[in-house]
Amino acid sequence: MLYVPGSSEKMIKKSQESDSDCIIFDLEDSVAAHRKGAAREAVLHGLNAAPRPGPELAVRINPPSGDHSIASDDLDIILPSRQLQAIVMPKVESSDDVKMVLDKAEHLRQDYDAPLSLILSVESAASLLNMPHIIEEVRSWGKGHLAFISALLFASEDYCAATSIIRTKSRRELLFPRAHMATIAKAYGLAAIDMVCVDYKDASYLAEECRDGRELGFDGKQAIHPAQVAEIQRAFSPSEADVLRAARIKHAYEQSVKDHKGAVGMKEGDSMVMIDAPMLKQASDTLAKARIGKMKIPDVSTEA
Ligand code: COA
Ligand code: MG
Repeated sequence: MLYVPGSSEKMIKKSQESDSDCIIFDLEDSVAAHRKGAAREAVLHGLNAAPRPGPELAVRINPPSGDHSIASDDLDIILPSRQLQAIVMPKVESSDDVKMVLDKAEHLRQDYDAPLSLILSVESAASLLNMPHIIEEVRSWGKGHLAFISALLFASEDYCAATSIIRTKSRRELLFPRAHMATIAKAYGLAAIDMVCVDYKDASYLAEECRDGRELGFDGKQAIHPAQVAEIQRAFSPSEADVLRAARIKHAYEQSVKDHKGAVGMKEGDSMVMIDAPMLKQASDTLAKARIGKMKIPDVSTEA
């Protein structure tokens, strides 16, 4: 998910070349206070001019939990766009923040076919701890035809600013909140989006951070520079070795079912590993991702 500063017409234009999965036109942190008005107009133009089909189009508004009127003005300008697909909501502190978007959508997007997807950004300790309650409350309103929560997103720098956590290159200090947020996302069937790698010129550090996020169960990652997109997509897709292993597990499991067994041993290198139902589920998820990424699924049925 690539952020594009809403105050930069040059970068908005450049974003049309990106094959990122989602473009987030930003009206918040990357836009100076005195440029908000001009940025709204530039973002609206960027939304409407974006070629279709293309990446999902999102806008990060200013936080309703902050200056209400700035967020309200953002929504008045961008919500009517028929090309708008998602809203990134920063600093979500309570369900009232989401209510503001739903109330506006009720007026400004009455007859629109597709509901908006809402990506909620966790930027404080209270936001993290209250998130299950916020999600449940929003769902209880039954307004999914207008907008629904699709993902949680971890905003590392704001989270550190709010909690006195000292950021290190090891990321050790962020393990708990990142893993906790990913767990909440999974508990509610939402996607989990990992933090920005601010070190945008260091490709090997980005690769390491992506691997770490994927291991924690994140589904994707935010990017701030176009050069980060390809590595993030590579890292969050299964590798050819992952796909081969998944195909072998699926095949071994299917064979074991034919033999009326729930678990079976599979040779892997010099060792033997046990394959059972949860491993089949992991393998099936990997194969589903591979299909989405149009990767070739090897035929392993003839392997010895
Ligand atoms: N979206 C679209 N285009 C971008 C871009 C972005 N996020 N970041 C850089 N580019 C473009 C540049 O305009 C430049 O285009 P050009 O080759 O046509 O001149 C090209 O990509 C290479 O950029 P580069 O010179 O390496 O970087 P920069 O110094 O121009 O910008 C940043 C560096 C960090 C300031 C910039 O990437 C940025 O503003 N990122 C987004 C920040 C943001 O949104 N933060 C809030 C979310 S956390
Ligand atoms: Mg921020």
